[in-house]
Amino acid sequence: MRTVQATIDIHTHYVPKGWPDLERETGGSGPWPWLRSDSEREAMLMLGSTEYRPLRAAAWAAEERLAAMDVDGVDVQVVSPTPLFFSYARETTEAMKVSRIFNDLALEVCAPAPQRLIPFCQVPLQDTDAACRELDRCLENGHVGVEIGNHVGDRDLDDEGIIAFLQHCADRNAAVFVHPWDMPSSPRLERWMARWLVGMPGETHLSILSLILGGGFDRLPPHLRLCFAHGGGSFPYWVGRMDNAWHQRPDLIATSEFPPSHYLNRFSVDSAVFNHASLRLLVDVMGSEHIMLGSDFPYPLGERPAGNLIRQAEFLTNEQQRQMLGGNAQQFLGIDSGVTMLAEKKAAS
Ligand code: CO
Repeated sequence: MRTVQATIDIHTHYVPKGWPDLERETGGSGPWPWLRSDSEREAMLMLGSTEYRPLRAAAWAAEERLAAMDVDGVDVQVVSPTPLFFSYARETTEAMKVSRIFNDLALEVCAPAPQRLIPFCQVPLQDTDAACRELDRCLENGHVGVEIGNHVGDRDLDDEGIIAFLQHCADRNAAVFVHPWDMPSSPRLERWMARWLVGMPGETHLSILSLILGGGFDRLPPHLRLCFAHGGGSFPYWVGRMDNAWHQRPDLIATSEFPPSHYLNRFSVDSAVFNHASLRLLVDVMGSEHIMLGSDFPYPLGERPAGNLIRQAEFLTNEQQRQMLGGNAQQFLGIDSGVTMLAEKKAAS
């Protein structure tokens, strides 16, 4: 029998078409995100009175999303929250309400195609117990994993409370997708899109480093399924510099059992690097078994057609492409049977 590999995009976002007034629902003072509907198929994501990001219907409408997936040759998408809604700086009760509202709406967004749209939830990560409770509720309701921001204020991923949450994810076998957000701002970073182009890769780099040097990976079980967005940010490029520092200045940074490069097999990254030289470096450093297609659909800094960087990379073997386009994601998500069925149906038609 011919083995068919489903193509799985593990980095996409949704925004629902409207939600309850968050100031009224939470009692917390604004500005809160809301959706200004500009037409049937266009809307503006607003933060208070500020225009945050223009959106098209693919953000909320399953049929638009599925049509784009068909064009790109993507069988399955992991559909994650848009980080603006994380609300980690809010009171726990407010963040809990926001999480519940959006997590329930995510199920509605994905409901028309349960085999093709896989919802990831958000949690109030500022409060470990609340975050674990919301994760449990979501796993019962059909979410397959969780997307978390790469930090909670000044707390990095090695924070005791966040480690406890990650331990809970490992216990529940829930996949974790780490997305940069809440990037530092300054006049220098407000030009162009510097917070996205420089800030985001640096944020992701720091959060991986914090899990290593803060002893996170030494404490967490190896079966925790963890993936970082945007190719792991600048981390993979600089792993040699970090190893060198670990050996040269052990007084400052040899706080982990092993040097940083030792931990490269403890996490995955997505393929959203947009350049074959970068993808080649990623494969050399991380290994193809730790890279998964991630497009950042439907946002403007995403890859379209999703997956073409991998498909057109001549330096990859067929097996490596198969792994990166879907095989690794099937393991990451623990969804073997459903997507295989889907891919076989496609091959048969
Ligand atoms: Co993204």
